[in-house]
Amino acid sequence: MDFQKEIKKALKKEIGKELDLEIPPNPDLGDYAIPCFILAKQYKKDPSEIAKELADKLEIKEVRINATGPYLNFFVDKSTTAKNVLSEIFKQEDYGSGSKKKETIVIDFSAPNVAKHMGIHNLRSTVIGHALSNTYKYLGYNVIGVNHLGDWGTNFGQLIVGIKKHSSLSKIKNVQDLNKIYVQFHKDVKKHPEMEQQARDEFVNLENKKPEAKKYWQKFVNVSLKDYDKIYDRLGVKFESTKGESEYTRLVNGAIKLLEQKKLTKISDGALVADVGKDMPPCLLKKTDGSTLYGSRDIAAGMFRLKKYSPNKILYVVDVAQSLHFKQWFKVMEKLNKKNKTIFEHIVFGRLSFKDGTMSTRKGKVVILEDVLDKAAKKSLQIIKEKNPKLKNKAKVAEKVGVGAVIFSDLFNDRIHNITFDWDKVLDFEGSTGPYIQYAYARCNSILKKYDKKIDDKIAFELLNEDAESALLKMLQLFPEVVESVIKDNKPSLLAKYSVKLAQTFNNFYSACHVITEDEELTKARSLLVHCTKKVLEKGLTLLGISAPSEM
Ligand code: ARG
Repeated sequence: MDFQKEIKKALKKEIGKELDLEIPPNPDLGDYAIPCFILAKQYKKDPSEIAKELADKLEIKEVRINATGPYLNFFVDKSTTAKNVLSEIFKQEDYGSGSKKKETIVIDFSAPNVAKHMGIHNLRSTVIGHALSNTYKYLGYNVIGVNHLGDWGTNFGQLIVGIKKHSSLSKIKNVQDLNKIYVQFHKDVKKHPEMEQQARDEFVNLENKKPEAKKYWQKFVNVSLKDYDKIYDRLGVKFESTKGESEYTRLVNGAIKLLEQKKLTKISDGALVADVGKDMPPCLLKKTDGSTLYGSRDIAAGMFRLKKYSPNKILYVVDVAQSLHFKQWFKVMEKLNKKNKTIFEHIVFGRLSFKDGTMSTRKGKVVILEDVLDKAAKKSLQIIKEKNPKLKNKAKVAEKVGVGAVIFSDLFNDRIHNITFDWDKVLDFEGSTGPYIQYAYARCNSILKKYDKKIDDKIAFELLNEDAESALLKMLQLFPEVVESVIKDNKPSLLAKYSVKLAQTFNNFYSACHVITEDEELTKARSLLVHCTKKVLEKGLTLLGISAPSEM
């Protein structure tokens, strides 16, 4: 029996509406509570009186109800709670995954720009998109994670010109090499402005599928993907589909034709645009020279996805700086597909900057993601060497801890906020961090290793009656709700915050209660509690896209 549900059900029957239960900070005041101020309007009575009356009227099996001033308090039977929660976690492989949904969700995330280092905004998009994808999948949704590579634009013409002048295609091995060519091109162009036109010409060659230009472009894509894959491997990220903007160029004309048929386009300053209302500038569709644009390629890709996947939703996990772009072309889609019910949503996130300024993009320096991950792993290794000199495979563990710390610090704050990356805080084993949760997980493991017996759920549940145990049980019970809340607002931060709380509650339990004692029954019961906590901590980390080393 789920007491929360039972209480809510009984309240609804009596009051006629759904109420959220509060969890009193002090367990002496009950496991759940309703502040009756919220009912004063309906009952036109003093809240304390309402509380008293309801306490008399309501009857719920195994729940003691009393009124303390304006509060209606519910005390649930501890051993039944323990049995419910622990048996469920113990038996189920997918605790909290709820009833399976049939909806299809496309998630557009990561999307780096080819021939450039993956930027910090691509890291944020990757990490947030990955956590969302994991969570939707866990809840049974059909998820198509798409990496919409930025592989089209005049900059490819610049690279072709630059390579022809200073290098050769066979010498280009990675994004770093391409970067050098860019820098050189921009220096050169100051002295030889005619190079700008040459670059445009090369891009036209590319648009016209000239074999030489295509060969160059293909190489740019290949070396970039090779570099990106190294990062995706470290982050554990996979996509259902990787499709660059270039693949949609040929679909742009079809989409524009539809817009023209519906009389939604006009010429403005020589370019073809679509009107999107008075409060926004028009959405650019085609340049004077006929080349496609970021916006029109997004429209074409949107049309393609509607047709191919018939999704219920398409989420675009992209920097807040692109808000206008999404508002504009979403509006175009709305006008174009009046009957379609698919929801297009821009999942916005703020800026990430570094506290020590070392990796600031503002000063023109690119933040190379690989450097961030390397630095995190290296710093974790130092900490681990100090904390646990005997640990085996230190470098491997440090990689998991370091990368996990970066991911976690990105996910912990509400994605809307800008975040400042402070290395000391990110890697603080005692703070609200990835390593803190990983550490709690590793601690569960080491306790269970010490216990060294098979865990089962035939225990004396009534033994788990200490406050610290009740608190931990309540925390575990919240997990399913938290997972649901993540996809409700597309906010992985809710799970990240919960995971910290769960780790804290576990640590409180660990300092208040000895797990392995002379008392065999109690040891067995507490070991099951640790086993279940371990499972939920691990599941939380996995959904966030963070690995959980068994020792650290
Ligand atoms: N490549 C773009 C960038 O790095 C992000 C693309 C996001 N996805 C999209 N469908 N527009 O800024």
